[in-house]
Amino acid sequence: MKTWTPDSWQQMPAAQQPTYADPKVLEAALGRLAAFPPLVTSWEVERLKQQLGEAAAGRRFLLQGGACAESFDQCRSDVITNKLKILLQMSLVLTFGIKRQIIRVGRFAGQYAKPRTSDTEIKDGVTLPTYRGDLVNAPEFTSEARTPDPERLVTGYQHSALTLNFIRALVEGGFADLHHPEYWDLDFVAHSPRAREYQDMVETISDSLRFMETLAGIQAGQISRVDFFTSHEGLHLGYEQAQTRKVPHKDGWFNLATHLPWIGVRTSDPGGAHVEYFRGISNPIGIKIGPEMTPEWLRDLLKVLDPDKEPGRLTLIHRLGYRGVANVLPGLVDCVRAADHTVLWCCDPMHGNTETTAEGLKTRRFDNILSELEQSLDIHRDCGSYLGGVHFELSGDNVTECVGGARGLSENDLRRSYQSLVDPRLNYEQSLEMALRVARKMAAMNGIAKARI
Ligand code: PEP
Ligand code: CO
Repeated sequence: MKTWTPDSWQQMPAAQQPTYADPKVLEAALGRLAAFPPLVTSWEVERLKQQLGEAAAGRRFLLQGGACAESFDQCRSDVITNKLKILLQMSLVLTFGIKRQIIRVGRFAGQYAKPRTSDTEIKDGVTLPTYRGDLVNAPEFTSEARTPDPERLVTGYQHSALTLNFIRALVEGGFADLHHPEYWDLDFVAHSPRAREYQDMVETISDSLRFMETLAGIQAGQISRVDFFTSHEGLHLGYEQAQTRKVPHKDGWFNLATHLPWIGVRTSDPGGAHVEYFRGISNPIGIKIGPEMTPEWLRDLLKVLDPDKEPGRLTLIHRLGYRGVANVLPGLVDCVRAADHTVLWCCDPMHGNTETTAEGLKTRRFDNILSELEQSLDIHRDCGSYLGGVHFELSGDNVTECVGGARGLSENDLRRSYQSLVDPRLNYEQSLEMALRVARKMAAMNGIAKARI
């Protein structure tokens, strides 16, 4: 295999990259990016890899979630706190149900680039480049908005830094303190059909914490603080390369734009530029696995991306659809086992279950999402593997993008608050309900008494 360098991907075919009018302007923007300080540190990246390795071994559980696409104008205090709140609430429910430490990873602080099926969009006879996320262009259907602008790469970095700075300050400042789960309550929680179930759980946890502290005579400082890690699809390779660094006293190269970058299904060709870029970085990496994935293809990816068979290196995020998962997943599990790699299996029950309503809105059905997740849990158990993570597109706000759930959102409700620019997200109530349902199912599978959850 040829020598890897942060720019060796440039020799390979790179899918899903925008075309910029002036390469010199692009180069200048990337040069500025390369000089900025990193967003995350190699210590954090290594800590996450270690924890993901433990999840692969069945000792932890990964909760990864956030928007399909972040946008610059959603980089606001309320949107960020609400997202943290729902992720914290979900992680609390999952810890309670499955009795394992949860690794919280947001799809945030950098989820600004989107893969698209088509390079162009046609409306009323006018053809323009497609919207590829705020890192590249703007969503409005005008020629000016849709022209890829290199300055957005710098703005994307800056918005990631603003987001991360706020998240770090909240977590450090006690927002995520387990003694105060009331900080995470959202205004409309009291009206949620699942509110009682959640509040009971919170009370039990607070009681247990007080009991433990009294018993041990200490403040459970170690367990009262929680961590958040960041992730995004490593799609725009110029952006990722500019933030790929060496650090003192360590071998290898780190992508310091995010803790956990992942490869999307549209860019996972083993001979393509994305796989070339990812093979050389030391971060833990995610790979989205769609229904087209064959055992041969997966074997190639494992060989190139995890040659040292390192636990924690690979998180395989399968998104096979509720109809397809039973056919495809067992073969993939066999393939990983035969190749003797230790991977973390994570289920993304969102991307294989997208449909379009008669009105032309993209949506997903709560029951189909839950069905793919529940089937995945059963399939892994039957195959002797462990489903150690879940990956959701969600919002901490009261959006109406997915149908179903305890409140029974219907297609007629979707227009009320449909905000996503790309894929439909679970709203706050649907997300919490999903966590409760998964926790209950996992508790039952593990033989934890029903009465406890
Ligand atoms: C996504 O996670 O938003 C996405 C595009 O996923 P996938 O690559 O699995 O289609
Ligand atoms: Co998406």
